[in-house]
Amino acid sequence: DGSPLVKYDGFWLPALFFRSILSFQKYFKAKDSDVILTSFPKSGTTWSKALNYSIVNRNVYAIDQSPLLTCNPHALVPPLEHDLYYLQDNPDLGNIPSPRIFSSHIPFNVLPASIRESKCKIIYLCRNPLDQFISHRHFSLKNKFQNDVVPLELDEAFDRFCQGIHSSGPFWDHMLGFWNAHLKNPEKVLFLKYEDLKEDIAFHIRKIAEFLGYPFTEEEEKQGLVEQIAKLCSFENLKNLEVNRSGYVHGVVEKSSFFRKGKVGDWTNYLTPAMAERFREIMEIKFGGTGLMFKI
Ligand code: A3P
Repeated sequence: DGSPLVKYDGFWLPALFFRSILSFQKYFKAKDSDVILTSFPKSGTTWSKALNYSIVNRNVYAIDQSPLLTCNPHALVPPLEHDLYYLQDNPDLGNIPSPRIFSSHIPFNVLPASIRESKCKIIYLCRNPLDQFISHRHFSLKNKFQNDVVPLELDEAFDRFCQGIHSSGPFWDHMLGFWNAHLKNPEKVLFLKYEDLKEDIAFHIRKIAEFLGYPFTEEEEKQGLVEQIAKLCSFENLKNLEVNRSGYVHGVVEKSSFFRKGKVGDWTNYLTPAMAERFREIMEIKFGGTGLMFKI
């Protein structure tokens, strides 16, 4: 999209957060009870934060008293690498009550060693890369916080995307890093796709709860808690909450820009069949034989 990027360990990371990423990598000490929400940017991180926060805290707050009703999900679940000052003041963030939930877009291999080596859980969310590309484009055009860069034309931005030169890219290495970690240790890394969540959210809420070690009890099932969490965290509900309609998170990002369309397949409104064809070939080369694939 034209934002300044820095190449580190094979990945293009946002220059704006680079120092924070290094600081996070160096200082953060994971606890076994931590939940780390990782994602490829614009793949549904906001949704994942709302869902996980609701699942983990369901015995702390009743659904109609949820902090999500008055607080943007990004304020409730901090992205670690954006908050350098946090770590400088309080490197182990030890005073946050457990289970702590954090989020990050950092590639698997760049994560602090303690996250990879402790027993903490990692939930990764990704999305059909073409929808992700379009979502990210809208987001960056709306939020001009990434210094004074001239946004690239769609063709040029797409060309760079295909070369892997984009925020947190190449997307194939980002996704395969977590995919392989999931295959190696499925108890440690849960691998989710936005499209699958869209298809059956109740199934995935149960799956996440089980993965984290908080399965729904029969009593909770009878009360319809799964469906209540699904509704609370739905795109329509969160988008229309007063707290998410105006204002900013982290000082610079418009809250409303996290809720655009929330649809699968929006890329077809922007990209040509020739672009899609080029993309299919790239996916075949990068993902062929790995077991990971997206329908285009
Ligand atoms: P679109 O731009 O395609 O609408 P992230 O949260 O990682 O920044 O991703 C943002 C994308 O997720 C946007 O996609 C946004 O609309 C969508 N989204 C946000 N909240 C959602 C929710 N509760 N349910 C489904 N999609 C959501």
